[in-house]
Amino acid sequence: MDKKTYYITTPIYYPSAKLHIGNTYTTVAADALARFKRLTGYDVMLLTGTDEHGQKIQRLAEGKGVKPKVYVDEIVAGIKDLWSMMNISYDKFIRTTDDYHVKAVQDIFKKLYDQGDIYKDSYEGWYCTPCESFWTETQLVNGNCPDCGRPVEKAKEEAYFFKMSKYAPKLIEYIESHPEFIQPESRKNEMINNFLKPGLQDLCVSRTSFDWGIPVTFDEKHVIYVWIDALANYITALGYGNENTDLYNKYWPADVHLVGKDILRFHTIYWPIMLMALGIPLPKQVFGHGWLLVDGGKMSKSKGNVVDPVVLVNHFGADPVRYYLLREIPFGADGLFNNEIFIKKINSDLANDLGNLLSRTCAMVEKYFGGTISAPIAKEDIDDELIRLALETPKKVEKSIDDLRIPEALDSIWELIGRANKYIDETTPWILAKDESKKERLGTVLYNLAEALRFASVCISAFLPETSEKINKQLNVDVTTWDSLAAFDGTQAGTKVNKGELLFPRIDINEKIAELNKLKEEQADASKKVEIQQIKEEITIDDFEKIDLRVVKVLSCEPVKGANKLLKLKVDLGGEERQVVSGIAKYYKPEDLVGKYVVLVANLKPVTLRGETSQGMILAASTEDDSKLFTVSIPGELPTGSVVR
Ligand code: MSP
Repeated sequence: MDKKTYYITTPIYYPSAKLHIGNTYTTVAADALARFKRLTGYDVMLLTGTDEHGQKIQRLAEGKGVKPKVYVDEIVAGIKDLWSMMNISYDKFIRTTDDYHVKAVQDIFKKLYDQGDIYKDSYEGWYCTPCESFWTETQLVNGNCPDCGRPVEKAKEEAYFFKMSKYAPKLIEYIESHPEFIQPESRKNEMINNFLKPGLQDLCVSRTSFDWGIPVTFDEKHVIYVWIDALANYITALGYGNENTDLYNKYWPADVHLVGKDILRFHTIYWPIMLMALGIPLPKQVFGHGWLLVDGGKMSKSKGNVVDPVVLVNHFGADPVRYYLLREIPFGADGLFNNEIFIKKINSDLANDLGNLLSRTCAMVEKYFGGTISAPIAKEDIDDELIRLALETPKKVEKSIDDLRIPEALDSIWELIGRANKYIDETTPWILAKDESKKERLGTVLYNLAEALRFASVCISAFLPETSEKINKQLNVDVTTWDSLAAFDGTQAGTKVNKGELLFPRIDINEKIAELNKLKEEQADASKKVEIQQIKEEITIDDFEKIDLRVVKVLSCEPVKGANKLLKLKVDLGGEERQVVSGIAKYYKPEDLVGKYVVLVANLKPVTLRGETSQGMILAASTEDDSKLFTVSIPGELPTGSVVR
């Protein structure tokens, strides 16, 4: 008989910066679920990948002076390294720059256009570049992007639109008749009440203001909106839109899309509507988990509170990080990451509860039986409770995972570990060891401990795979199937244990935190140096000579209407008056610039920005994050038109 399938996806990540512990969270959770399903007999497909198109990536690449693909290639390699460090057992890694994906997305777009669901019109609205989203005036919050809070720009474009409104009633009906579709429940209400019920607007699904995207085949100056491109990955990765659709036929519809709550709207509104329009069944469930917060709230580069998963794994190993994320963060709600709580948890749950149970058990088998596990032939009533709990644990874990309650699954496993530790105190093996007539009883107690550990090890293997392997090695366990947990007899009498190193040596909290803080400071210093060292490709003096830099005097200056970032300057260039549009409104009041002598790139091809001609560019220096900017100015008076070289 064919195995039951289980298809689980993570979001595909923007390769715009190094991933932080918050991004890692989704993927670790998806990996644990995928591993657990494999363990319990499913044929699993775990998909992850990268979302590589869009203006944000294009701008970042331009900032580094490299082509977007070169820029993303390096970051994607780092993301893959991170997943391997975290033991993420993905079955497929999709990149939206992969040829098969590009082709399939183009075909999807064409099909929707041909059937009349996508039409051409023009769009005017407020655009948030980091989020790649258009907003209406009423959606803005204090004039800024409602998602990320950053400033938006007025933009007007000829664009293609998707008839979302046509499918909205059908989607509402679907969501209401499939209560399991959006989880947790509270998020479902949010989607219906905040987005669907007020009425869906048609979605702008193409862009002409940049070109780092998938071109619309029948109108090449348009690139396909990054979210249409990205969401399609869940089917293109399986071969949809290409020749070989075996995986698609086998795994679609997905069992669960795991996403952060911030992108639930895209997954429960735009994505299902796209699928409905294509005549494809909807995924069975979209689960929106909460945010991982740090002291001080959300992680952000500017606050300097970003937690780097690579540092954590290097210092503590992958399993402690996985353990903290999976057990301590309520799955579905926000949770806190804090170094001190993290280390305390390692010491209490991993080193004390689990690590000590293993080392004490192995040490006693070595000390009293020369390392050989005895047969459990001297049973007593006191054993029943431990055995009963061990037999119940896999069922409880399976039920919790079926309901996507990951922390509860770990609670059940730790209940068994706690019970086994208590069993040592109750049975006092060191006292039994003093009495030769109790030898068989002592052997039985140690057998029960080893077998309880085997249960724990099989159960944790989906969550803490390295730890499970270490336990199996020390106890020399070779029966590790899920089915073997139906009876408390998988450990073979006569097995030799190999007491190894401590699973989790205790950590000195103060010492470790001091070490981490020091490292953070060093990294901050080092990253400043790297930014300074990023020098573009070498050019010759002849190349440089092509740029005509001149001293100009600012005669007048005013804001450009409808563009909050731009100023319009009139400058004097050796008696000739020129108009220049410059994106420096955030840093200068118009009156501050009048009378200043600044440097102009005088032979730059004129462009029109927001309807205003710009004949050249004013030179300015800024920080990498654009928080500070100064124009390059001449500290005294020079005849205007003087050459800068
Ligand atoms: N590229 C889109 C996803 C497209 S899926 C078709 C994207 N990428 S992302 O890199 O910005 O985010 C990836 C995931 O990380 C999202 O699920 C997001 O919710 C999650 N997280 C980002 N910061 C997070 C926390 N601080 N905590 C938990 N998850 C967080 O969005």
